[in-house]
Amino acid sequence: MILVTGGAGFIGSNFVIDWLAQSDEPIINLDKLTYAGNLQNLASLEGDSRHVFVRGDIGDAGLVARLLAEHRPRAVLNFAAESHVDRSIHGPEDFIQTNIVGTFHLLEAVRAYWNTLEAEARTAFRFLHVSTDEVYGSLEKDAPAFTETHRYEPNSPYSASKAASDHLVRAYHHTYGLPVLTTNCSNNYGPYHFPEKLIPLVIHNALAGKPLPVYGDGQQIRDWLYVKDHCSAIRRVLEAGRPGETYNIGGWNEKPNIEIVHTVCARLDELQPKADGSSYATQIAFVKDRPGHDRRYAIDASKIERELGWRPAETFDTGIRKTVRWYLANQDWVGAVTSGSYRAWVGKHYEAGQ
Ligand code: NAD
Ligand code: DAU
Repeated sequence: MILVTGGAGFIGSNFVIDWLAQSDEPIINLDKLTYAGNLQNLASLEGDSRHVFVRGDIGDAGLVARLLAEHRPRAVLNFAAESHVDRSIHGPEDFIQTNIVGTFHLLEAVRAYWNTLEAEARTAFRFLHVSTDEVYGSLEKDAPAFTETHRYEPNSPYSASKAASDHLVRAYHHTYGLPVLTTNCSNNYGPYHFPEKLIPLVIHNALAGKPLPVYGDGQQIRDWLYVKDHCSAIRRVLEAGRPGETYNIGGWNEKPNIEIVHTVCARLDELQPKADGSSYATQIAFVKDRPGHDRRYAIDASKIERELGWRPAETFDTGIRKTVRWYLANQDWVGAVTSGSYRAWVGKHYEAGQ
């Protein structure tokens, strides 16, 4: 079996669902259930004995050690993190605790467990760390896209904390020989994306008749990848990645934020037109910029294609259509998240610390 952390969040829950759709290998899912963890994302797995959910902190070395000893996974995949840049600007402490200190404790528990394995299992074991393109900092307009050897230049407390965790993971390979893999991915979008992030926020606000906040001039560029493609890339890296290596994952799809917002509005105009016939784009509102806002990210994903044969299956056009349709069809999920009622699931479905 495998152990994933942060499997009740956006990417982690998509990963768990996709994994169990393709394989019968069980998953232990360790998640603290912060505001970003939502058990409703995993509702389709209720009663599925292949999925064992445990509420807990990656920084709780005793708990992690017990889980590893009991379940003896062949791999640990670390999705757990504080992930929202704006929150890291308002309050960086949780980012330091989870992304740096938490990853350190997780690595220590994994290292101790790995040392107990027989030679063959030790060689086959993998620790896969899910990271971000933001560790590389901001690119000039015409600069080449980030490769895996690009210098680390994180600019926000979030990206600095992820960069620190990447360095720890690297050090555990270099110093202790732990068979690690690190992935650095661009902006994901798709089902179960918390509506504090740009695309789900725009969909939600548009339907609610609220302003669509675009930071600064809206010309910041991101590379966008459909979340299911990120999950397939992670599965491929786990399967065939070389220990100690890092792999950039991206969608070959650089776009300015304002174009993303216009595209979402156009899809909504098509799928759920406003009663008065106007476009959702009339709700766009330019607002104060994010402090230290990185201007451009771009991922060169040629290494993972060359070495592991992975390329995204979705274009932005197909991915955003699926995403907008998903949000329109899952307004109950959005309502539970935006009202806060999703938190009630924690008590209802699982005992704390189980
Ligand atoms: P998310 O915020 O939606 O989910 C994070 C999950 O981790 C939540 O379920 C939360 O409860 C859990 N968690 C937080 N602190 C924890 C702790 N101390 N112990 C155990 N669980 C904890 O994040 P996401 O967008 O799904 O991102 C997942 C990972 O992918 C993160 O490491 C993030 O840095 C990385 N990443 C995200 C993106 C993106 O576009 N969202 C892109 C590249 C990389
Ligand atoms: O690049 C990968 C990263 O992508 C991940 O590591 C992060 O975990 C993930 O949150 C995401 O970070 P961003 O800061 O790029 O995502 P966000 O959705 O917050 O913002 C996307 C862009 O849109 C960014 O340039 C800021 C801008 N923005 C965001 C919001 C929430 C707006 O213009 N208005 C908004 O209301």
